[in-house]
Amino acid sequence: MATVKKDINENSEKIKKVKRIVKKRIEELEYKEIEQTLISDDVCWKDAHFSCPENTVRLGTLFSGIGAIEHAFQRLGLKHKIVFAGDIEPNCKKSYFANYEIDEKDWFCDIRDFDAKKYKGQVDFLVGGAPCQAFSMVGHRLGFEDARGTLFYEFARVVKETKPKVFLFENVRGLLNHDKGKTWHVIHDIFEELGYDVKYRVLNSCDYGIPQHRERVYCLGFKRKTEFKYPSPIDLEYVMYDFLEDYTNSKYFLKEKGIKFVTSHKNRMKSYTQINGDIQLCQKRNQQFNWHGDFVFHPQAVDENPDEKFDEFIFDVKDVEEKYYLSEKVAKYVLAGGTKNFKTSTKTDLDIARPLLQSMHKMHRAGVDNYVTHKGRIRKLTPRECLRLMGFKDSFKIVVSDTAMYQQAGNSIVVDVLIALLKQMDITKYGEYEN
Ligand SMILES: C[S@@+](CC[C@H](N)C(=O)[O-])C[C@H]1O[C@@H](n2cnc3c(N)ncnc32)[C@H](O)[C@@H]1O
Repeated sequence: MATVKKDINENSEKIKKVKRIVKKRIEELEYKEIEQTLISDDVCWKDAHFSCPENTVRLGTLFSGIGAIEHAFQRLGLKHKIVFAGDIEPNCKKSYFANYEIDEKDWFCDIRDFDAKKYKGQVDFLVGGAPCQAFSMVGHRLGFEDARGTLFYEFARVVKETKPKVFLFENVRGLLNHDKGKTWHVIHDIFEELGYDVKYRVLNSCDYGIPQHRERVYCLGFKRKTEFKYPSPIDLEYVMYDFLEDYTNSKYFLKEKGIKFVTSHKNRMKSYTQINGDIQLCQKRNQQFNWHGDFVFHPQAVDENPDEKFDEFIFDVKDVEEKYYLSEKVAKYVLAGGTKNFKTSTKTDLDIARPLLQSMHKMHRAGVDNYVTHKGRIRKLTPRECLRLMGFKDSFKIVVSDTAMYQQAGNSIVVDVLIALLKQMDITKYGEYEN
């Protein structure tokens, strides 16, 4: 019998035709929204106890950053062992090694070069939040292999190679709507294809004790079919103010340009900035460097360094918009004390105001118009405060520059949400007893 030679050339007409059919089928697939897993109405997780506190939980983390899950275990005082962790950013490694116990051999740098097969069966809980830019093209819903080339694929590959009892995949909320929900479908299907019972829900950290509006998807995969509902929200006991440091270095105070930017109508309308908010805006990787984010107003800041010069015209920023600031030139003139022949009073902040004049909107005349110079100052949040607002206690050692610390804090997972999840799923059940 004559054998027919198979045409396996990628550019052959046959293959092209098959590809076209597959593409069409994909376009026709329906993307029904996958329902989020419910919130528990059982005993609140806060009052729940771990069933096996003597067990050691073996942790593997990917895109480890500053180790939010590791810090959550520390805060809970749970026994755990870090099996592996890794991050491509050398500064993350610095922070990680200063704060957690891990063997150099178990640290990897680029996940794409990390062969996790040797850890098969050694991980109870695998945690990671892949950078969100990884989702521009996650695949065509053709399964695991199709997602190659994305950082999500690397996460899924490590799940496949290590087979953890549970995994947590954390990400930005926007992931659910990306490409009309198709991306999330692909991710969800791939986790199921790997044999996991998949749950997911968007949680906001301000519902779990941290005054920060930070919504993230928390996707859990259980190797065994599991009844699981997400932890119920709790009342917020503290506002952002409670997380501030008592003493702050003067380097965190803004100069005139920053103050104008931060207090500008546009920024405040668009919620790019917030001053003295009760609940922090979501921290970002580049927070505090583009004058976006949260700021603190000190009405009567103690002058830690009296020699340092601060801007003269700083108003109560709660009420004053940019347009009310005097330009540097006008301010200089107004407070100059007049000319040689015509002396004026440079007094500002009068208890009883001078009569308000019709012309005051355009003319600036010292001794005639009213000016206030609140000696208050606006400052940005310190790296320590940013860490606190991500749920990191002050036991966390800062060993990198301010710039790196802001980035790392803004990238992290909120520790208090992790604590709620760990309690809700009773993570100790997945650990093992070690003598
Ligand atoms: C959104 S952050 C996750 C931070 C972490 N969840 C935490 O608790 O701090 C993503 C992290 O992935 C790291 N990353 C990006 N590409 C990587 C790669 N190819 N291999 C390993 N880590 C990578 C980044 O440096 C960043 O720290």
